[in-house]
Amino acid sequence: MNGIDLRSDTVTKPTPEMRRAMYEAEVGDDGLEGDPTTRRLEELAAERVGTEAGLFVASGSMGNLVAALSHVEPEDAMLIGARSHMAWSVEQAHGHPTYGRVRVRAVAERGGMLPVEDVELSLREEGDSGGAMGLVCIENTHNSANGMPLSLPYVSAVSEAAKRHGAALHVDGARLFNAAVALGVPAASLISDADSVSFCLSKGLACPIGSVLCGSAEFIAEARKQRKIVGGEMRQTGVMSAAGIVALDTMVDRLADDHANAKRLAEGLADIEGVQVDPDEVNTNIVFFETGDKPAEEAQRELGEAGVHCFDLGGRIRMVTHYEISSGDVEAALAAVSRVMRS
Ligand SMILES: Cc1ncc(COP(=O)(O)O)c(C=O)c1O
Repeated sequence: MNGIDLRSDTVTKPTPEMRRAMYEAEVGDDGLEGDPTTRRLEELAAERVGTEAGLFVASGSMGNLVAALSHVEPEDAMLIGARSHMAWSVEQAHGHPTYGRVRVRAVAERGGMLPVEDVELSLREEGDSGGAMGLVCIENTHNSANGMPLSLPYVSAVSEAAKRHGAALHVDGARLFNAAVALGVPAASLISDADSVSFCLSKGLACPIGSVLCGSAEFIAEARKQRKIVGGEMRQTGVMSAAGIVALDTMVDRLADDHANAKRLAEGLADIEGVQVDPDEVNTNIVFFETGDKPAEEAQRELGEAGVHCFDLGGRIRMVTHYEISSGDVEAALAAVSRVMRS
């Protein structure tokens, strides 16, 4: 797609270094003795997030699915945020069981966070009704809350609540490294109280494919089985994992540039008449804004015609910065929004 593509950080293409590493990757059968490059990626990923083991999976959605199936017994429940990507997956499934026989309960987030008292309440209610809640899931960063990074004290508080009721904590960390960079802490510190995390290589880290699910060695052994059952066991995966190794070594620190661009975008948007956005809420690479009297659908279409591509998500425009977006692109996008809002 030509123009300035702010639809998502998933549009990023692999860097030349990734393409070289993919071409040269040593490979093997990941369903048999294991693919050597994927093993290296899984070890590196586990080291970066401070867990015992990692498992390469096809996507962020598969990471969350495999985590749910591995943590929760059939017919038991898990708790998710009502505006989380996991909830979106349930909605999109039109009644099909997204998470197998795991029952899903949702709690409304505030600022991207499940209020700890509401988590407690749901866990207690589930127990009182004779059920069992095996898992609580949080999203860090929280996509629909302007990419809000959730801090360690919050993660610890949710983890304690979950543990008090015998539930595990899973972090949908599709953009975990954005959270870590924004908060200025190692990614490992953000999940030290969690039982598992899934992070995406294919978003801001610019890989073409893949996520890594991380947790204890025991959890990952179970997750490996569940991954096979859902059709996620792949073979010469080193061609994909090689890009992941390059991403973890070269693409994390630079996320700060995407955050600076998103902040500038939000600040510029706030100066445009008719646009509603709070730049203080933008701390990573995702900017949501409203377009007042102009329907978001119309604004999105006109912006697209002007070569600035974004999404209208439920009546709000979302723009996501990434490594193919320069500060000049941000200024050009702002000029386009300004024109569209005046038209
Ligand atoms: C927070 C979050 N979790 C999970 C996913 C799913 O990732 P994938 O598209 O790789 O399945 C996304 C995708 O945008 C996401 O934003």
